[in-house]
Amino acid sequence: PDSTKGKLLAVYEKAQLFYHHILMNTKAGEAALNYLIDRGITEESIETFKIGFSPPQREALKMYLENENLDDVDILKKSGLFSDREDDKFYDRFTNRILFPITDAKGQTVAFSGRIFLENGDQQRRTAKYMNSPETEIFNKRRILFNYDKARPIIRREGEVFLFEGFMDVISAWQAGIRNGLATMGTSLTEEQVHTLDKVTDHIVIAYDGDSAGLQAIKRATEFISEETHFSIEIAAFPEKMDPDDFIQKKGPEAFKDFLAHGRDTLMSFLMNYHKKEVNLDNESDQLKYIDKVLSELTRVTSAVEREMYLNQLSERFDLSIESLKEQLHGHIISSQ
Ligand code: GTP
Ligand code: MN
Ligand code: MN
Ligand code: MN
Ligand code: MN
Repeated sequence: PDSTKGKLLAVYEKAQLFYHHILMNTKAGEAALNYLIDRGITEESIETFKIGFSPPQREALKMYLENENLDDVDILKKSGLFSDREDDKFYDRFTNRILFPITDAKGQTVAFSGRIFLENGDQQRRTAKYMNSPETEIFNKRRILFNYDKARPIIRREGEVFLFEGFMDVISAWQAGIRNGLATMGTSLTEEQVHTLDKVTDHIVIAYDGDSAGLQAIKRATEFISEETHFSIEIAAFPEKMDPDDFIQKKGPEAFKDFLAHGRDTLMSFLMNYHKKEVNLDNESDQLKYIDKVLSELTRVTSAVEREMYLNQLSERFDLSIESLKEQLHGHIISSQ
């Protein structure tokens, strides 16, 4: 508690209480609260995730912390809660943003991610949609997985984890009853995060946004996770232009759960679809490129039955013998060794 880390944790805990109070109990928080409710976030979830709002009064947080006897200037500077543009003033970094506390494995708040909410307003055009706390002694972006503290026992029980792109996806899924969902801090999955997942499960379901950025991110994540070969990976590929939260708002929690349970692709069928989009299959030269690409991806599949399944699909689709496909696959296996 006397260490820098302990002091930073104390400051973050109080800041979280302050922001949450502003959202729930004050006039200043009303518009932000309405925004969340309009988006279908329940009060129960706001409590569970301890969501808050940073008021327009830029010195309010500093005054509150001072009242709580948290007035160590050095610690306040190190906290990253204040704008580092004014050196002598302690202006709240997040003014006018809805704040999602980022918690560590013990559930302690170590950072915030702040979302603007005045859609089409001035703020929307001028600044980033989400803004995160800077890294500090208690916050390492590469290590943190949003919702890990709450999801961990459920991941263990269910034997699998859902990886989402956004905080809103995690929270919406939680409300729909899917409580083993996590998200990164808007970055691609890191080695440290995969290592953390490795401790609790061997089964990852990637449920990123259904846009081209999401597809790219899935592709990258699967390559990255595959390096840790014992993970089994599935993909829940959402319809174009929908993220999991949009899906829930549009189709309801039951349809969402049904999709996650029965709408999954294997890694291989995801990759086959993905590579299809890169070529024109009416063209024979593209067909050959596509077949070769799929065969090179197939080297990652270790189950003989699964390999056979996709070789059969290729064989039927392109009217080729299984023997010649197998021969080419073996060529890839030898060159990848
Ligand atoms: P909503 O628009 O509130 O539904 O958020 P979203 O989760 O759908 O956001 P989006 O799909 O655009 O981005 C996914 C995740 O990337 C977010 O949850 C953030 O973590 C991150 N992200 C998005 N926009 C920004 C940004 O402008 N800055 C930073 N630092 N991160 C962002
Ligand atoms: Mn398993
Ligand atoms: Mn996205
Ligand atoms: Mn999204
Ligand atoms: Mn969204």
